[in-house]
Amino acid sequence: MRVLAVDPEHPDARAIAEAAEELRAGRVVVFPTETVYGLGARALDPAAVERVFAVKGRPRAHPLIVHVLGEKDARAYAATWPPLAARLARSFWPGPLTLVVPKAARVPTEVTGGGSSVALRAPSHPVARALLAALGGDAIVAPSANRYQSISATRAEHVVQSLRGQDLLILDAGPCPSGIESTVVDVRGNVPLVLRPGALTIQALQAVVPELEVVRAELGDEVARASPGQGARHYAPTTVLELARDRASALLRARELVASGQRVCVVLFRELASGEHVAGAPIHVLSGEAAVAGAALYALLHDLDQQKYSRIIVEAPPRGPGWEAINDRLRRASVAAPDPLGV
Ligand code: TXA
Ligand code: MG
Repeated sequence: MRVLAVDPEHPDARAIAEAAEELRAGRVVVFPTETVYGLGARALDPAAVERVFAVKGRPRAHPLIVHVLGEKDARAYAATWPPLAARLARSFWPGPLTLVVPKAARVPTEVTGGGSSVALRAPSHPVARALLAALGGDAIVAPSANRYQSISATRAEHVVQSLRGQDLLILDAGPCPSGIESTVVDVRGNVPLVLRPGALTIQALQAVVPELEVVRAELGDEVARASPGQGARHYAPTTVLELARDRASALLRARELVASGQRVCVVLFRELASGEHVAGAPIHVLSGEAAVAGAALYALLHDLDQQKYSRIIVEAPPRGPGWEAINDRLRRASVAAPDPLGV
């Protein structure tokens, strides 16, 4: 592994040229996006795409997102460009929105998991854009730069931890600003369908396409069919993460586990009220503002995972607008906590 530090706003041209050269040579490069770090390879190079699956330990049937500079390049990877795709791309690209459209014949089937659709996104991060520009419009496939099913990397250190021992060049531009993956929207039908809630909120999307529908993540199988690679368990730390139904249950559950001799920690949303504590267990507080909590969530989970607790107890996040992605990820990362009151 080789880590090259780059300025997130004005990346050094030599570092970008070196990374682009690696990609052209069919190698895998880790680069930052505004959401999470991506494990990149040239989209039109099937052997390089294969390498991405191997490094990540991901099943070949799970399709990858193809990153482009913008709508013009995206269209070269799509068989058709539905009006809905144009509308959403013009409103939200570059940014954390992934559009699922029919795939062009030139997109290798390795990229799409054998399927007939392709997921496209134009990232806004200056380093990702510089890399795409250095490839002259060639697209880059990139799943999140973590081992299959574990938490996405929002810092280069997470990549180093998660993909230890792999022969990779990593462009380190510090923490990723939004910290939650892109929102994936299928625009092949009459109604845009959110397959994965993400950094672009449902509300922002609905302002442009009020008819938008969201696939219910609770319906695990259905989602898996609509969006291969969205299996129920995903985005998970190694430590068992219990999602308590509310704040009081989280605190009770932690006390119960401490009393039975376990080392646990607690994660809550919104600041602590006086008297909210658990003797023998640290409490970590995430913001009551969704965007702020989202930006910090994965880094906190990576950090807690290092500390080898027997359990991480997390309060169910708020349900309001903007919290969809956080609820989705924590549900997938967790096992349901038994109700400490036994009701
Ligand atoms: O923010 C992000 O999206 C990051 C950065 C690196 O761009 N990438 C990312 O990739 O999260 P990955 O591979 O970890 O997640 C890709 C998601 C999966 O949920 C997958 O099911 C969905 O996109 N996806 C990819 N291709 C698809 C397709 N053709 N049809 C439906 N869903 C697709
Ligand atoms: Mg991922």
